[in-house]
Amino acid sequence: MAVESMRRVKTLGLLGTGVIGGGWAARALHFGIDVIAADVNPRMEEWIRGAVANAEGALARLTSAPLPPKGTLSFTTDAADMARRVDFIQENIPEQLELKQKMLADVSRHAPADVLIASSTSGLMPSDLQRDMRFPERLLVAHPFNPVYLLPLVELVGGKATAPEALTAAAAFFRYIGMHPLQVRREVPGHLTDRLQEALWREILHMVNDGVASTGELDESIIYGPGLRWAAMGTNLIYHLAGGETGMRHMLRQFGPCLKWPWTRLEAPELTEELIDRMVEGTQAQAAGRSIRELERLRDDYLVAIQQVLKQFDIGAGSTLRALEERLYADSATHLQAAAAADQPLQTLQTDVRAEWVDRSGRLSESRCLQVFADASDALFQVNGAAGGEREFIAMHSQLAHHARAGALEPIAVSTQVLGVDDNRISLFHWLKRRTDGQLIATAQQLYRYADASSGAPAPLEESARKALQALRTAHARLPVPEQAQSPVALGGS
Ligand SMILES: NC(=O)c1ccc[n+]([C@@H]2O[C@H](COP(=O)([O-])OP(=O)(O)OC[C@H]3O[C@@H](n4cnc5c(N)ncnc54)[C@H](O)[C@@H]3O)[C@@H](O)[C@H]2O)c1
Repeated sequence: MAVESMRRVKTLGLLGTGVIGGGWAARALHFGIDVIAADVNPRMEEWIRGAVANAEGALARLTSAPLPPKGTLSFTTDAADMARRVDFIQENIPEQLELKQKMLADVSRHAPADVLIASSTSGLMPSDLQRDMRFPERLLVAHPFNPVYLLPLVELVGGKATAPEALTAAAAFFRYIGMHPLQVRREVPGHLTDRLQEALWREILHMVNDGVASTGELDESIIYGPGLRWAAMGTNLIYHLAGGETGMRHMLRQFGPCLKWPWTRLEAPELTEELIDRMVEGTQAQAAGRSIRELERLRDDYLVAIQQVLKQFDIGAGSTLRALEERLYADSATHLQAAAAADQPLQTLQTDVRAEWVDRSGRLSESRCLQVFADASDALFQVNGAAGGEREFIAMHSQLAHHARAGALEPIAVSTQVLGVDDNRISLFHWLKRRTDGQLIATAQQLYRYADASSGAPAPLEESARKALQALRTAHARLPVPEQAQSPVALGGS
């Protein structure tokens, strides 16, 4: 059994590329993981490429932290071939136990022993899924939520044969791609979240069936109230607050008796044609002529916005986003450290032009160009210990020059030369080039001052950061002054 030494995931294999497979692909590719997608239906190649492109806009707005170059997507109808070439397999075929058992057993015969295999199943038990597998200890349930590319939750469930190391290693991978792995203590049908969702859904069906409310009214009962609370605090912590000073204890005393009545039912109503019609007509009225695509776009936009707001409070999915950004900045700094030895401008940033960054003429916009340069400066400050504390470099002056066009999704890189350093200022020159042909896209000359982050008052650089930056300046002083530099730079330390 080799899961203890599970490999670093560079290539993710997907088995089944429908709604969920497409979502996994978009998320993994965005964070620099290559994807090999396998589906019995060859027409799904076009579908998955469309799904990835469709997710790009919202994903690009999720964070402005520097991203690694996007992963590449390939497609096959040969699941065995996929299994031989990947570091982690995520299964997303239809929710049928026998089909999943057969396919999981099949791929397990081709995937090397240290390749984890996870199932997206909404409610099946991992012990059943791993029954016929080779190396069943590497099977776990990793249940995501639609849209997988924006919702961070993934429930992890082990079966009787699952090795604990498999769950730990899978959690590390999911965190790497910006998710919140929630380890379920023991396998139960429906895991945690779908049991809760089903309870609500069952009651909705009853109320629509009994003519108590329409689908729209029931949605209003959530979105104007509990839904707003749930995103940050869930049900239990919110009820704790509802109990006043004595919290949950008082809440249970007050409302506990109603649970015995009970208000709600435990069995779903019969799905009669009439009930189905009511549900369909109700939701069509709510959609008010908007297509599924339009509604998906709206949903994606507010999901991004909510996570950014939660990030400010370091709560729920906002904490996950914050942790992801810290990891992305740290990785970009590590990449820079690796390149720092050479006597040449530093490779401070590598990324792709995101679809969001182009203006109406289809070229990298001025503001996003400046943002890319600012991210490159940040990476340089981080690696030299001059970022992340109570003091930081604040931009005083930026001079931007555009040289050529860069379009959406083009791979780009920034290199940076330190022109001057003194006790609390630094002058940088950046080149932004297309990675495929080296074409110069834009340059920027920037002057930063070190200052107290809250008051903005100038502050001296810490000794170690000043020394590190001056060493860099000394190395870069041997390089010619960039011909595009617009003004002489007269900072000390050279
Ligand atoms: N849709 C959701 O909201 C959601 C959320 C979380 C988890 N899930 C789970 O994810 C899984 C997939 O759900 P979905 O909604 O993406 O389904 P889907 O029907 O959209 O996609 C299933 C895909 O699997 C392919 N497929 C079928 N048999 C195959 C085989 N033998 N080999 C390879 N590919 C095969 C189909 O061609 C199809 O493209 C299910 O287990 C479901 O319970 C779904």
